Amino acid sequence: MTRHFAKSLGLAVLLLTPSHAALAADDTTSLVERGEYLAKAGDCAACHRTPQDAGQPYAGGYVIHSPMGEIVASNITPSISEGIGAYSEQDFAQVLTQGVRPDGSHLYPAMPYTAYRGLKEEDIHALYTYFMQGVEPVDAAVPETNLSFPFNLRFSMAGWNLLFLKDPYTPDPSHDAEVDRGHYLVDTLGHCSSCHTPRNVLMGEQQDRYLAGASIEGWHAPNITSDASGIGSWSEEELVTYLQSGHVAGRAQAGGGMAEAIEHSLRHLSEEDLRSMAAYLKQVPPIETGKPVDVGQRIVQSETLDLATLEPPLNVDPDVMSQGGSLNGQLIYQGACASCHQIDGQGTDDNFYPSLVHNTATQGENPDNLVMAILEGVHRKTNEYTVSMPAFHHELNDEQVAVVSNYVLSQFGNPELSVDAAHVGELRRGGETPWLVKAMPWLLTAGGVMALVVVVAIVVMWRRRKARR
Ligand code: HEC
Ligand code: HEC
Ligand code: HEC
Repeated sequence: MTRHFAKSLGLAVLLLTPSHAALAADDTTSLVERGEYLAKAGDCAACHRTPQDAGQPYAGGYVIHSPMGEIVASNITPSISEGIGAYSEQDFAQVLTQGVRPDGSHLYPAMPYTAYRGLKEEDIHALYTYFMQGVEPVDAAVPETNLSFPFNLRFSMAGWNLLFLKDPYTPDPSHDAEVDRGHYLVDTLGHCSSCHTPRNVLMGEQQDRYLAGASIEGWHAPNITSDASGIGSWSEEELVTYLQSGHVAGRAQAGGGMAEAIEHSLRHLSEEDLRSMAAYLKQVPPIETGKPVDVGQRIVQSETLDLATLEPPLNVDPDVMSQGGSLNGQLIYQGACASCHQIDGQGTDDNFYPSLVHNTATQGENPDNLVMAILEGVHRKTNEYTVSMPAFHHELNDEQVAVVSNYVLSQFGNPELSVDAAHVGELRRGGETPWLVKAMPWLLTAGGVMALVVVVAIVVMWRRRKARR
């Protein structure tokens, strides 16, 4: 009897062991897969790519043009010598959620640890498993980041963290499961607020202006709160379509940093996750930033927009810009834009070349995305096709960009807006310089930095004392 039992036990062990091993392997595979999905949701690849985007995912070297200077994204492949191969899971969690490397040095918040701080432990575990087991190690060093004084003092980020490192996501009991999932994705992995929330003089996000719109590398990341001046008039369906493809016919397209977020991250997310993000955005407390953006209302205007009311087409030589340096907005429009967006600005029937009439880039309260689209073009891969509008920064000077923008705004867009050459020049250089950077020479001569360090030290001591109590 016992022998029989032992025998069957032995048999059971024999039968169980291989399947258990398979089960464990399956667990790891699914953990790696989950980690890979989360890395996509976190947009890690958009920054941690190589400069030419030449294969080698996560090998870093890509340069981020921050207002403080050029910051190089690290190699985060599991290379022991050049990447994060020697990181323990705890090291990884600390870098991701506090911006502190295992050697104690601080990261610049160009790495969105302020958002990743809200990550759930199980998600950090899956991400770690993916980076260690699912990513090819690349033993190539990236260049050092060398910001000018005083921004080169990495420890000063400790003071900055004390002021601005807050928990980005705390579950709100009034949210149902779908909205809660959207809240989590938007505020942690999606780090939407790092572009869409304006910053204060010390470059911290203004919590009371959450998602109310901000400038980023010359582009304007619009108000995406539920106000009518934000995405109030968008349906959830339209938001999902936008996040998935960057294109909602008759409404908006994604250029600049948003195009990158879609190409590297959002288009890879499940429909369910995108839907939950849309559901969350639709109930973010409204912040009014201007008149309602209602491209639908303008459809009426555009239907009365008749070719006869436009100035007659000029006899344009396609090379007109390089020839004459013309300052006639209509001439430049017809030479440089009309072949795609059409003479009447209505785009093509399938909206592949979008209408400039029904368009948040020309109908909003801010002309910057029109100017940036002309300067840099629009480039984006979606799941179905590749979008490409050419960049005109070599062909058109600041004044020419201003006149063609003003032509588009007055004929097709919000006629209350206009731009001048000086503004185009500023956007060409990456947008307005933040106060902190502009003021630094004066602060330095006035010993302001010393004062800043002292203030930070006082804050640190005060916080510690408060924590001890
Ligand atoms: C918006 C750009 C951006 C995104 C998105 C981003 N990172 Fe980073 N990351 C950076 C930059 C820049 C640095 C280097 C910062 C510095 O030198 O202070 C960095 C540093 C790191 C480091 C530290 C490596 C080291 O020791 O130098 C790790 C680990 C890391 N990132 C992981 C991730 C992961 C995982 C994700 C996705 C969940 C991610 N990053 C998303 C920009 C980004
Ligand atoms: C790297 C910066 C960046 C990040 C990160 C980012 N956005 Fe954007 N977003 C932009 C910019 C710039 C635009 C304007 C694009 C254009 O019109 O060409 C934009 C446009 C949008 C629009 C269209 C608004 C309109 O009125 O046309 C929506 C909706 C949006 N973003 C949602 C999100 C969500 C949700 C996230 C987080 C998952 C996010 N964005 C993350 C920069 C960013
Ligand atoms: C070769 C065709 C082509 C030409 C020429 C062209 N565009 Fe575009 N334009 C596009 C495409 C494609 C898009 C993006 C569509 C998408 O995102 O789905 C676009 C997008 C835009 C947008 C929306 C940008 C945004 O970020 O929301 C504006 C504004 C615009 N173009 C204006 C212009 C102006 C002004 C000119 C002339 C100086 C011009 N385009 C020339 C093809 C073109």
